[in-house]
Amino acid sequence: MDLSARGLAKAVVKQANSFGAMPISSRGVLNRAVGSLGDSDGSAALRKAVGGKVVLVTGASSGIGRSAAVRLAAAGAQVLLVARSEDQLAEVVDEVAAAGGLAIAYRCDLTDFDQIDALVTKVLDRHGHVDILVNNAGMSIRRKVRHSQDRFQDFERPMHLNYFAAVRLTMGLLPTMVERESGQVINISSWAAMLHPARFSGYTASKAALEAWSDCVQGEVLDDGVVFTNVRMPLVRTPMITPTKLYSRMPALSMEQAATVVCDATVSRSRRVTPLVAAWASFAESVSPALGDLLRKNAI
Ligand SMILES: NC(=O)c1ccc[n+]([C@@H]2O[C@H](COP(=O)([O-])OP(=O)(O)OC[C@H]3O[C@@H](n4cnc5c(N)ncnc54)[C@H](OP(=O)(O)O)[C@@H]3O)[C@@H](O)[C@H]2O)c1
Repeated sequence: MDLSARGLAKAVVKQANSFGAMPISSRGVLNRAVGSLGDSDGSAALRKAVGGKVVLVTGASSGIGRSAAVRLAAAGAQVLLVARSEDQLAEVVDEVAAAGGLAIAYRCDLTDFDQIDALVTKVLDRHGHVDILVNNAGMSIRRKVRHSQDRFQDFERPMHLNYFAAVRLTMGLLPTMVERESGQVINISSWAAMLHPARFSGYTASKAALEAWSDCVQGEVLDDGVVFTNVRMPLVRTPMITPTKLYSRMPALSMEQAATVVCDATVSRSRRVTPLVAAWASFAESVSPALGDLLRKNAI
């Protein structure tokens, strides 16, 4: 075994990938624990958590959002699907209906604040409130800063979709949650927001900003029955990661596993869901920033 600092960092990154499928929540439970709340696969607990509730999922036309939306609808939630691709949203509506569930598509380009405001008005008019908002729509950019020298949009675009859009939509739906003293906002963040890996500066900053904003607001609504949950997803095999050839060889959660993580968050209502290894790496960084730097240099 290579015991040099670099070898150690590589070994930890390797472990990070194989442990990615083991999220822990701030209540200390692994995602398997949902099973112990109800029947063997956790579906009773999920039905109890979301049955009859209005759940809005952004980015529901693809990947994690789509899988989570289908699972939530199967558990009895009325799911509002938000994205730009109408054809793909229609496919999800049909898939949910074929399984006996109810999903309604709302086309919205979340980079357009006017469209977000119109979406909020329409949703509140039709449904009265949203019980659970899943801020999932997102984009990622993997590029060294030196290659973004003439591309400031590499920092603006992730901030616009991953941060400002989520804030704008949450601001629109939060007052009714507070009024009803009930609600949950689930942010599909990334372990990047903890690990700050090299080559992901624009993406990481946008996810870290949303987590920080949500934590501040949580302090303001602590007594109002509203919970913010930051889910730090590890690598998930979705269309988002297909352009990066390297990822095809890396261990990753399936979309179904990622959907389970999202569903578990509706049951546990934890403040944070973190891959175990990201928690360790974050602890290592707090003890030794130099070790943190080695980890991030070797990260994917
Ligand atoms: N995959 C991973 O390894 C991974 C890891 C950690 C965190 N995450 C996070 O997980 C979330 C989902 O990612 P994914 O991997 O499932 O990606 P994906 O398959 O590419 O899905 C992205 C979703 O966002 C929607 N979207 C993009 N731009 C939009 C816009 N302007 N307005 C409305 N919707 C928009 C897309 O729908 P339309 O194109 O139809 O609009 C699509 O439904 C993201 O926030 C991502 O950062 C992913």
